[in-house]
Amino acid sequence: MATIPPGPRAPLPPFPRDFLWGVATSAHQIEGAADERGPSVWDAFTALPGNVKDGTTAAVACDHVRRYREDVALVRDLGVGAYRFSVSWPRVLPEGTGAVSERGLDFYDRLVDELCAADVRPVPTLFHWDTPLAVEEAGGWLTRATAERFAEYVAVVAARIGDRVPKWITLNEPAEHTLLGHALGQHAPGKRLLFDALPVAHHQLLGHGLAVRALRAAGAQDVGVANSHGPTWPASDAPADREAADFYDVLLNRLFSDPLLLGRYPEGVAELLAAAVPDPAADLKVIAEPLDWYGVNFYQPTKVGAPAEHATEFSGVTLPPQLPFAPREITGHPLTDFGWPVVPEALTELLLALRERYGDRLPPLVITENGCSYDGLDDQDRIAYLDGHLRALHRARTAGVDVRGYFVWSLLDNFEWAEGYRQRFGLVHVDYATQRRTPKASYHWLRSALAGLEA
Ligand code: NOJ
Repeated sequence: MATIPPGPRAPLPPFPRDFLWGVATSAHQIEGAADERGPSVWDAFTALPGNVKDGTTAAVACDHVRRYREDVALVRDLGVGAYRFSVSWPRVLPEGTGAVSERGLDFYDRLVDELCAADVRPVPTLFHWDTPLAVEEAGGWLTRATAERFAEYVAVVAARIGDRVPKWITLNEPAEHTLLGHALGQHAPGKRLLFDALPVAHHQLLGHGLAVRALRAAGAQDVGVANSHGPTWPASDAPADREAADFYDVLLNRLFSDPLLLGRYPEGVAELLAAAVPDPAADLKVIAEPLDWYGVNFYQPTKVGAPAEHATEFSGVTLPPQLPFAPREITGHPLTDFGWPVVPEALTELLLALRERYGDRLPPLVITENGCSYDGLDDQDRIAYLDGHLRALHRARTAGVDVRGYFVWSLLDNFEWAEGYRQRFGLVHVDYATQRRTPKASYHWLRSALAGLEA
């Protein structure tokens, strides 16, 4: 499936000295040590046969809780200045609220110390989809109380590691957590609520705003969020395709970025939300708390057309026919092992479009995730992907978009949610039988490319 030919590459174009280079992971995908924390929605979801394609769970994953020193050394030796990881809410508060686990907090304390000693800036994400099961059982993100519990947990984390954390991320990809987790049931907690999942979006956004306030009350300086974004291309110029693509763009992109950056919901969803959140004005003030920076996770553009008559398969996800849009395959581009099209110029397009839409309201940007899944240690296709996307990012910077950092997803191969361990996104290969880490060709390439930038 991989079709990009290997070959010598020109040096990367110049980036400023203070540009923030990093690699990213998340707790549930790498930590393991599941018996040392409270259960999360992902433990419950992966316990049910059929939910994960290869039938695996993340009980051990990359065993990072025990091997974090080796992993931090890999980050340090790569020559990046920052490491984005996530804090597991049920590791800190096994019941989601109430009693704090000293053992859990101690792990993050040691991880942060290890990063600081390696001269790598710790960039924690406070929620990367692993809601404590007890919080889910009390109503989860469908309820407003979860936003409040989340902010309380954030305050606990900030009090413990805030003195050494220079940069924070509240939520990771609330769009995917809403769509895949609550609308389509392909991710934990496995709910299939379609449009009734919309309150999950609102409550995550509210949780974000409350978390921003809790972080600032604890003295945090540099607070952002990591939202997934991608250009949505209409399947054709036909009005039905354009309308469908626009609605998809609203649900997957603007539903999150408009309230955060403009303090209002986009047209079309405000009405849909009204039943669950009749008077969002006060919440929107909290949600639109000004951010120090805005994180963008980018993987691929999406082509969208008018709805199909039958359920459609898209990127391994079965979409029901009730949806008012249908994603279509993008042809003419190489595909990753996941089947995702490789279109670096879509990153330039996206960054320019964000600046166009939000203008002065757009804070400085950081690419908080970008990467691809390919098998093998000689991963020339990953090198081509990263090289292409860095050049695309550079073009957007040259056109005046203020992008100040870039994080590769991911440091390690890891538990890729409903795909299990089959999709390998790491710069470092993990042999799950032995837990041996082996840097891939892409790791060596990135290290030399970054060293070349400094020269
Ligand atoms: C985005 C998610 O934040 C991350 O958890 C996931 O592994 C990557 N996309 C790749 O699918």
